[in-house]
Amino acid sequence: MDIRFEPLDAPLGAQVVGLEIGAVAAGTGLDDGVVAALGHGLVDHGVLVFRGEPISPAQLVGLGRAFGELEILPEPEKRHPDHPEIFDLTNVRPDGDVVERDEPQAVFLRGTERWHTDSSFRAVPSLCTMLYAVEVPERGGETEFADMYRAFEELPPGLRDAVAGVRLVHSYAYSRANNPGELEPMSEEELARYPPVAHPLVRCHPDGRRSLYMGGHVAGVEGVGDEAGRELIDQILAHATGERFVYRHRWRADDLVVWDNRSTLHRLRPYDIAGTRRVMRRVTVAGTEAPTGDS
Ligand code: OGA
Ligand code: MN
Repeated sequence: MDIRFEPLDAPLGAQVVGLEIGAVAAGTGLDDGVVAALGHGLVDHGVLVFRGEPISPAQLVGLGRAFGELEILPEPEKRHPDHPEIFDLTNVRPDGDVVERDEPQAVFLRGTERWHTDSSFRAVPSLCTMLYAVEVPERGGETEFADMYRAFEELPPGLRDAVAGVRLVHSYAYSRANNPGELEPMSEEELARYPPVAHPLVRCHPDGRRSLYMGGHVAGVEGVGDEAGRELIDQILAHATGERFVYRHRWRADDLVVWDNRSTLHRLRPYDIAGTRRVMRRVTVAGTEAPTGDS
């Protein structure tokens, strides 16, 4: 199979052509060579776009598994009924109606409008996420991706000094509590399962490159007071998500987008959440090691 990566007209991202993703995922699995090529493509481009091929829930799971273990999301009510590895990201309620803006299902979805990287609250965070569009709004509801390699490389000198050696505290309890509205509080068991973890802000990758690692699960800077910590975080985030580092994906039904959670941030753009359907399926591939920084 001859796979090609056609860079998007954007700071990051490539469209993958030459891979019949549905046909491949339906078989016993992806050829090792194909998986390796896709893995390299992901590192090189940060975001991979596959267009226009229907992918079933079982195929999506098969595809995800070719890349590693799949995470099971903390909230059971968001799991696909037949495939617990699939996170049903939908503003359609189980009763078939579209949500209201302030009910928990909508609040949770609107929480993804904050820049973040998936599962950074885990000690071993996610490698990549695969998001498949079933139904998309005509307007709004895009997903934006920011390139954290380039954001690091282009840090102004003052900020470059400020990030050296810094560790950030990532916390699911924090990001849940800071959603744009009311959610059920986390249970003692959930709190115990996802304690806060610290990861280096400057993440070193196996090929020697460095990127910024941060986002919406960040509760503070290790060893720094809340206010000073928040100031630094806000300053870095504002730089890192500047337009020159960002690709905006305008969804069509049947798009599959795969993003590298180690080296990109992403966010949902607003849409008429109480008026128009947006139905997506997501699998999250687990990472294999905790992020490392310069020692
Ligand atoms: C997510 C997420 C963005 C989107 O599922 O983690 O950030 O566009 N989704 O739905
Ligand atoms: Mn996300």
